[in-house]
Amino acid sequence: MRIDVLTIFPDLFTGFLATSIPANAIESGALSCHVHDIRAYAANRHRKTDDRPFGGGPGMVMMCQPIFDAVKAAESQDTAAETAAPLRVLLTPQGERLTQSRVEWLAAQPRLLLLCGHYEGIDERVVEELNPLELSLGDYVLSGGELGAMVLIDAVARLQSGVLGHEDSAAEDSFSVRTPDGAHLLDCPHYTRPREWNGREVPDILLSGDHEAVDRWRDAQRLERTRTRRPDLLQNSPLAHPQPLPSANTHKSARQVARTTRSGASSNGDAPLHGHTAPEGAK
Ligand SMILES: C[S@@+](CC[C@H](N)C(=O)[O-])C[C@H]1O[C@@H](n2cnc3c(N)ncnc32)[C@H](O)[C@@H]1O
Repeated sequence: MRIDVLTIFPDLFTGFLATSIPANAIESGALSCHVHDIRAYAANRHRKTDDRPFGGGPGMVMMCQPIFDAVKAAESQDTAAETAAPLRVLLTPQGERLTQSRVEWLAAQPRLLLLCGHYEGIDERVVEELNPLELSLGDYVLSGGELGAMVLIDAVARLQSGVLGHEDSAAEDSFSVRTPDGAHLLDCPHYTRPREWNGREVPDILLSGDHEAVDRWRDAQRLERTRTRRPDLLQNSPLAHPQPLPSANTHKSARQVARTTRSGASSNGDAPLHGHTAPEGAK
């Protein structure tokens, strides 16, 4: 997968791309990431990328020309058939709120172009011209789209094949594990050595060596945590209300479900989706 980032603060990405999962993904060849300085494409003498807003008011607005030319230049690089047309993404608080379903869908795209705004935002005309998928990190305002771009890069990098150490680890995370009827679940609690710490013991079941019992316990924990912490995730699921868990014979453990919902393919087995559609309820 290739990701191009357009920003007026390219230095922000240096440490980020050289560390942890994004660095692993790049080193393994699963991801290539190219950061472009929008300022380098400004056609004016002072490399100005922003100007005062028409109509007055506070702040500055990012100008059309440098952004449009930077997009065109980035898109003209690496035009191999499978990476030719990137999916354009604009980070903006006014966009669709980013979810794991959207992340899984984005992770299956061959190429993304992430556009980071700053100041009051970007001149609306270049947004209309580029027609990006608009994504938000949440209902709050950041100073720039760079942190959003980093969040997105990290989230899709860890879903690239072979990037995480253990094959199942991403598929068993919160929002990736799903009930048989497709509702997203939170992850179960995790424990490591020592067996007792500060008077607190690890649940006996995890020390039993009975892997099926451990899987059942983890499934029950996922469900219980989701019911108490994020009941909205179970809104349309019959599992929203406490009931006996399905028997071990008929119910796939999260681990089994995870194996069939690994990233790359959409988790409902459909072919990868194209265009600015998909998610919302995409499983
Ligand atoms: C100060 S914000 C502009 C906010 C804009 N005036 C508004 O109220 O919608 C500057 C830039 O930060 C980025 N940004 C801010 N909040 C964000 C969020 N919640 N999600 C994604 N990007 C965000 C966007 O790229 C935006 O263009």
